[in-house]
Amino acid sequence: MEIEIDIKEIRTLVTAIKTNYGFDFGEYALSSFKRRLSRILEVYKFENMQKLTDRVATDKPFYELFLKEVTVNTTEMFRDPSFWKKMKESVFPLVKDFPVIRIWHSACSSGEEVYSMAIALKEAGLYDKARIFASDINEDVIAKALEGKYPARNMELNGFNYEKYEGPKKLNNYFKTNGDYAYMDLDLLKNVTFKKFDLVQGDQFQRFDIILCRNVLIYFNLPLQDQVIAKFAKCMSLGGFLAVGSKETIAWCKSAENFSTFSLEEKIYQKKI
Ligand SMILES: C[S@@+](CC[C@H](N)C(=O)[O-])C[C@H]1O[C@@H](n2cnc3c(N)ncnc32)[C@H](O)[C@@H]1O
Repeated sequence: MEIEIDIKEIRTLVTAIKTNYGFDFGEYALSSFKRRLSRILEVYKFENMQKLTDRVATDKPFYELFLKEVTVNTTEMFRDPSFWKKMKESVFPLVKDFPVIRIWHSACSSGEEVYSMAIALKEAGLYDKARIFASDINEDVIAKALEGKYPARNMELNGFNYEKYEGPKKLNNYFKTNGDYAYMDLDLLKNVTFKKFDLVQGDQFQRFDIILCRNVLIYFNLPLQDQVIAKFAKCMSLGGFLAVGSKETIAWCKSAENFSTFSLEEKIYQKKI
C-alpha cells in the first residue's frame, strides 16, 4: 500500500538534508519530488517518512544513494532530432569562425547528449576547435559517460533519432557492438572534460558560447529555475546560445531579460549583446 506523504514531512526531510549536507531540495518541483519519495519508501521498505528522514540524516552513503534516486537520468542520443538539426543548420554557422567554441552540457546524465554534440560538431568540421565541459550532479552517470558503454538495445532509438536529424552517415559509424553492449568511439571525448557540478550550489567561473540545460529545469520550481538561468547569463559570452528542453522555457524567469529568443520551437535563446 502506498504511504501517504504530507508536505510537513517533506519539509522535515528537506531541512535535515540541508542541515547535514548543505544541499537544498526546498526549491525542487514538489510533484516530481513527492513521486520519487514514494518510490524510495517502497523500494527501500521504509515504514514511514520519519524513518527515511532519520536514515538519510545519519547515513551518508545512504544519502548519496538517495540523491541518485531522486534525480531522473533518462536521456537519448540526438534527443528531439529537430533541435539538433537547428543546432547544425542555424547555430553552428554562427559560431564556426570562433577561434574556440566553448560548450557546457550542464546536466549531461550518462553522456548521450555529449556524444551527440561531439558527432554533430565532427560532421560540421568543428570538433577540433570545440572545448566541451560536461557536468552532472550525479557521479555515477558521469562514470557511465566516460565509459561510453550503452545497452545495445538503446542504439535502435538513438540511430532512429540520428536519421531524423539527417546525419550524413549512420550512427553505427561511431560505435561498435559486442554482445549486449555498444561501445562508443572514445575519440569523441578527446576535447571533453567531465566533472561533478551542482547547478544549484555550484559557482561557474568559465565562459561559454553554447550552454545546454535540457530536461532538468522541469525538476526545479520557478525561483530555482530563475536562479540557474541567472547563473548561465553570467557565464555566457555575448551572443552565446542557451538551449533548454522541448517542454521547458525560460519565459517566466526574471533573468530571461538577458536573452532574446533564437528559436521558439527548439527552445534556444541567445544572450543579448
Ligand atoms: C533527465 S536528465 C537530462 C539529460 C540530458 N540533458 C537530456 O536532455 O537528455 C536530468 C539530469 O539532471 C541532473 N540533475 C538534477 N539535478 C541537478 C543539479 N542540481 N545539478 C546538476 N545536475 C542535476 C540529473 O542527475 C540528470 O542526469
